[in-house]
Amino acid sequence: MNSIALFSIKGGTGKTTLSSSLGWIFAEQAHRVLMIDMDAQGHLTQLFKGKPTKGQTKLYYSLVHEQPLAEMIVPTSHPNLF
Ligand SMILES: Nc1ncnc2c1ncn2[C@@H]1O[C@H](COP(=O)(O)OP(=O)(O)OP(=O)(O)O)[C@@H](O)[C@H]1O
Ligand SMILES: [Mg+2]
Repeated sequence: MNSIALFSIKGGTGKTTLSSSLGWIFAEQAHRVLMIDMDAQGHLTQLFKGKPTKGQTKLYYSLVHEQPLAEMIVPTSHPNLF
């Protein structure tokens, strides 16, 4: 498994846009991609219209209440992209 983190202290520099493009490109190349949206605004999730289903918890619960991450994975319209 490979992990990529995009980081910049400055806001509005294209982190979310680049993350979404990279995620989509890797998914198109048949890689299975999990994008973890740690932005409190949830922009990456909004971009892919990935809404948690009713009753499904968010990343916060995984970090604070130690719920398994696997329980909060949301599919997108791309079969390889989550
Ligand atoms: N390569 C690019 N060329 C032109 N505009 C871009 C490019 N990348 C991003 N943008 C635009 O710049 C704005 C900020 O991009 P984005 O939301 O990806 O930044 P961010 O670093 O994730 O911001 P934040 O710090 O608020 O999370 C958006 O309006 C986006 O459409
Ligand atoms: Mg962002």
